Amino acid sequence: MRVVDLERDMSDVIPTGTTRDSEYLFERMTRRTLELARGAGSRILDVASGFGQDLVPLAAGGTFAVGAEPSRRMMAFARMRRDEAGAPPLHLVRSWSDALPFRSHSFDAVLCKGALDHFDRPDRAIAEMARVTAPGGRVVLAIANFESLACRLARWTDDLAEGWLGRPVGRGRRHYDVPADHFTRYDLELMREQAGAHLELEVVEGISLGWGLPVWSRAVERLPESVAGRLLAAVGGLARWLPGYADVVILAGRPRSSTAR
Ligand SMILES: C[S@@+](CC[C@H](N)C(=O)[O-])C[C@H]1O[C@@H](n2cnc3c(N)ncnc32)[C@H](O)[C@@H]1O
Repeated sequence: MRVVDLERDMSDVIPTGTTRDSEYLFERMTRRTLELARGAGSRILDVASGFGQDLVPLAAGGTFAVGAEPSRRMMAFARMRRDEAGAPPLHLVRSWSDALPFRSHSFDAVLCKGALDHFDRPDRAIAEMARVTAPGGRVVLAIANFESLACRLARWTDDLAEGWLGRPVGRGRRHYDVPADHFTRYDLELMREQAGAHLELEVVEGISLGWGLPVWSRAVERLPESVAGRLLAAVGGLARWLPGYADVVILAGRPRSSTAR
């Protein structure tokens, strides 16, 4: 039996619009992922499409977009979102990421955002994404980095408080702890290894630095809006070149010919 939660409803996922640094992270991650996918052509597969956050705008923009998603509940959310947006009907296919029910080379681009760490067989899933992508097409992965600067700083601060100052750290999940519904704890090295096995990597870049660190979130909240926006963009620009420290890493590349069937 597969131990995955098909009835999940995202209630345990960090809300995206609560703070400026969250808004920046989720907006940039989405924009860059879609930009890279759209740049490869007009037939796009969204693997683990969830509640249609990317599928609906793709369909609304005239792209032939297909969502592969195992959860019926997520699929229902996606259809509701489509109705609200008045977008064209969605092409949703109920399926697992490691056995995609599509012919080889069916899509110009395959994207998988914020989901690889939820898969029980991520390596097999990337192989499948590469298989269904046309030669010269692109697979785009957006993955949370659990060795980000923010995770490292939070861990050091906790170690310092606990080990040196004898202050117990707060209860509940810490910033650097992997949520219960994740199978894999990704860092840049592991992302490169898994993605590079099936893709000729062309893009490896970071999105956002310091996300969720209380001191950073609070500082950005307190600044005038335009100053905060410029600061987030400047720090985000740095993150792009420092993926090992970034909050999210985007990897994109062409399928290796050995993966094609
Ligand atoms: C955090 S959501 C991400 C959804 C979407 N990509 C986004 O950016 O909002 C993770 C999704 O992965 C799906 N999922 C979990 N295990 C899966 C698997 N083995 N194959 C395909 N999808 C899976 C879940 O149903 C859920 O919709």
